[in-house]
Amino acid sequence: TYRILIDCDPGIDDACALSCALTDPEISLELITTVAGNVAVDKTTKNALRLVEFFNKDVPVAAGARKPLLKQLEDASEVHGESGIDGYDFGEPSIKPFSDDAVSILKDKLLHSNVPLTIIATGSFTNLGLLLSLYPEVKPKIKEFILMGGSLAQGNMTSVAEFNVFTDPHAARIVFSSGIKTTMIGLDCTLSGRISDETKDKIKLLGKAGNMLASIIERDIDHDETGTAIHDLQTIFYLLHPERFTDKKFWVDVVCEGPAIGATVADIRKAYHDKTNVNVCLDVDTDAFNKWFLEEVEKNMQ
Ligand code: BDR
Ligand code: CA
Repeated sequence: TYRILIDCDPGIDDACALSCALTDPEISLELITTVAGNVAVDKTTKNALRLVEFFNKDVPVAAGARKPLLKQLEDASEVHGESGIDGYDFGEPSIKPFSDDAVSILKDKLLHSNVPLTIIATGSFTNLGLLLSLYPEVKPKIKEFILMGGSLAQGNMTSVAEFNVFTDPHAARIVFSSGIKTTMIGLDCTLSGRISDETKDKIKLLGKAGNMLASIIERDIDHDETGTAIHDLQTIFYLLHPERFTDKKFWVDVVCEGPAIGATVADIRKAYHDKTNVNVCLDVDTDAFNKWFLEEVEKNMQ
């Protein structure tokens, strides 16, 4: 069993990742924390609660940071819609957040765990930056970070910066330099490894959950002729099937000012460091990703 905590900003692609994490029998999802990102934190929290309720699970949701550490809040509601997961009518959730202090809850959860836990993060890294700064004693209890964010080749906010890193580069730098085992799944994988329209159409026929997922995916505008980039979903695929990724360790730093702010720069030539801090995913087996997602919906969500 994979014991994990997810920090997220649902978000259409976060919602897809959460759906798999909530229902896969090999995953024990012990806490969901939310952060402002795709939309404001009250909305990302509500969306996390909607998914927990949709799948009828008993996973606590704690609301986190309302804005990035230093930068102003910039959302992505033009991509994900007003609610953050437009495209499906969930209605109002009847369950409530467990707490509005995600960082303390993360600290408690980690310190009380008898084994180190994996943290998957699919939003801006503000909560994690705060956690590591306020409570560095949690470090030995974090097995690894699996992050959706960053890019070596090209950005989606500026020519060089990806959204989750761009929105809070200072927090991303704290996480990257923490010394904790970190895997970065950035746009290098997520823009090429898309969920095809064919997979989405098959999923649509798979009951209530399939219909919900296909409906929100159809609303996503990160779409081209090869399919939809469901970035955050690849974190769960990586957790379960790291062998389907091509990865390499580099020293990666985050640019925190100037025109390249939010860029994740890998020291490919080892010009600055002999050591490495981040395992960077460079490529993913797209067919295997599509097959896996279809099976997750087919087997675990009916
Ligand atoms: C990332 O930005 C967000 O809009 C998505 O949810 C994903 O986490 C992709 O750059
Ligand atoms: Ca996200």
